[in-house]
Amino acid sequence: MAQKIILDCDTGVDDTMAILYAALHPEIDLLAVGSVWGNVDIETATRNCLHTVAMAGRAEIPVARGAAGPIDGSDAVFAYHVHGDDGQGNAGTGRPVGETVEWTAAEQIIRLAKRHPKEIELIAVGPMTNVALALSLCPELPSLLKGVTIMGGAAGAPGNVTEVAEANIHSDPEAAAAVFSATWPLTMVGLDVTMITTLDDSHRATLAAGGSIGQYMADILDFYFSFFEAAAFGERRSCMHDALAVAIGAGLLEPELAPIVNAYVVTGAGPTRGQTVCDLRGMYMGYPEQHGATTRVVLKSDPAFAKDVVRVIAEAGDSPIDLTRVR
Ligand code: BDR
Ligand code: CA
Repeated sequence: MAQKIILDCDTGVDDTMAILYAALHPEIDLLAVGSVWGNVDIETATRNCLHTVAMAGRAEIPVARGAAGPIDGSDAVFAYHVHGDDGQGNAGTGRPVGETVEWTAAEQIIRLAKRHPKEIELIAVGPMTNVALALSLCPELPSLLKGVTIMGGAAGAPGNVTEVAEANIHSDPEAAAAVFSATWPLTMVGLDVTMITTLDDSHRATLAAGGSIGQYMADILDFYFSFFEAAAFGERRSCMHDALAVAIGAGLLEPELAPIVNAYVVTGAGPTRGQTVCDLRGMYMGYPEQHGATTRVVLKSDPAFAKDVVRVIAEAGDSPIDLTRVR
């Protein structure tokens, strides 16, 4: 049976890949998508969510609009320099498609969790604002979900916004802290694995050789590759952060090392704001059980998995919607 998931994302370039993978994979039942601010503003993120499900030929998947900024009301900071002004590497079609549902992304999580108790993996790959809002609206939510998987944090790896903080956590540490302290089984797919699971020109060539969906993905990766070349790798390749979280959250990729440990998020002001502190002190003893621990921290997974994600998208053929750019 395909794993039921809800995907919550701040749709930039890697989120687009994650939605495509989830919408196209036969072993994933993508029930709904929620947009959240983060890589780009909420208008742009929502438009990109709608565009991506339609591009995949899955326009029937509901898309709900989510939060426009951090849960504490502070100013939102976006990452257009990473994902382009349109969140599509400045290579999007510029053509809006589809409409959102009338409920919010947080309400959507609750509605679906009540409809399918203990069956849904909620996969959040942007700032965790919607998830924290859902939790505050429905305190019994942890008992209604199968689990929560996030792309976010760094257990041993350096941060990508500050020395210690990863973007999705750093964007809204108060929301992330609520997600980490809830009682659901939480899987953290952080920079420890997403920084070493990368896409290179051979993956882009495979995408470009596919139908219009693959070609679109190859096009929007161009800008993303340039960002990573300058900011991280010194050569043309990129992470595929969010799709890796989908693969692990949906049970399609079994991590090679993922101990269940105590973990929390640093909130408040100061240089460690947004850090994920994971108790890895058991590493020399094979990670013995920790009292009260609920966070499965993925420390090792197969980097070659990137090609599976690429294959699913490259083999998807042509989109039912027009993907040529509006001039
Ligand atoms: C995460 O931050 C966002 O820019 C990406 O989409 C990914 O979810 C990586 O730190
Ligand atoms: Ca994201």
